[in-house]
Amino acid sequence: MRFGVLTGGGDCPGLNAVIRALVRKGVKEYGFEFVGFRDGWKGPLEGLTMPLDIAATRGILPRGGTILGSSRTNPFKIDGGVEKIQANLAKMGIDALIAIGGEDTLGVATKLDQLGVKVIGVPKTIDNDLNNTDYTFGFDTAVNIAVEAIDRLHTTAESHHRALIVEVMGRHAGWIALHSGLAGGAACILIPEVPFSIDKVCEWVESRFKSSYAPIIVVAEGALPQDGDLITKDKTLDAFGHVKLSGIGDWLAQEIEKRTGKEARTTILGHIQRGGTPTAFDRVLATRFGLHAITAAYEGDWGKMVALHGTKIARVPLASATEKLKTVDPELLKEAEIFFG
Ligand code: F6P
Repeated sequence: MRFGVLTGGGDCPGLNAVIRALVRKGVKEYGFEFVGFRDGWKGPLEGLTMPLDIAATRGILPRGGTILGSSRTNPFKIDGGVEKIQANLAKMGIDALIAIGGEDTLGVATKLDQLGVKVIGVPKTIDNDLNNTDYTFGFDTAVNIAVEAIDRLHTTAESHHRALIVEVMGRHAGWIALHSGLAGGAACILIPEVPFSIDKVCEWVESRFKSSYAPIIVVAEGALPQDGDLITKDKTLDAFGHVKLSGIGDWLAQEIEKRTGKEARTTILGHIQRGGTPTAFDRVLATRFGLHAITAAYEGDWGKMVALHGTKIARVPLASATEKLKTVDPELLKEAEIFFG
């Protein structure tokens, strides 16, 4: 069989580990052939390919990003997009697709599966917000990067008696903020799932200063104040209808300064969280996803996504991945609150 492989949406550490595992097992154990589609759904749409064999995937395990490139192209928003993909697959003799992506990429894969395209999904996102899998690879790396930043910010915050705000990624789900804030000893953690009271935040800031310690506030980009609106970078939308977030950190710094009289500054981690080498956890998870995805393909189990359930790799219906977002249970934030202030 001949497979097309693509990586779509925001990149994330571990993508190359999946590609390597798919190809290594697919070629060695099943005698499959692979074609790399470039830049997400743009690849099959425009027929953009690259060779993908064992040689092409050597040495990529620790490399961040994706050797295939990525994009947020949505073929369902392009006139005749789906027909073009089907025609290109037929022309190139590709029997099935392995789509590695988050809610947008797997949402497209689900619709293609319903239209009869043979497809297997692999879940990725640093946000960890895909449904029906306990973890996605990339998340552990992003959390570790954020924790390192928080540890460094603690020492400079103390030297200057400042409140420092760390804005992390997470549009609708506060997983990165919650885990990095807990691991980094934040004075408070603000997530999209639980609108926050700015008065309460200022109380926590002041109480941390009283203990002769400088507060670090960890905020997800999608967090919002109880009486306010989501803060966005600008009004433009991408092909999947997402706004560009960022700005909540600066807003918090201004409010904290105004209300407490303490100096406050913001660090926006941004794409640093998505770049660079994956942690060992992410390399192992991504590798296992790749190995199990190609076995699912060998068994002809189309329309499935590989997923982590406990310590086992499961196969779940592709559609279930995007049925709803896996957001943070507010109880988990409550659990962390004992450390706030
Ligand atoms: O979906 C992953 C993610 O990293 C989000 O947390 C973030 O809002 C978004 O991608 C940023 O996307 P882009 O790099 O396209 O601006």
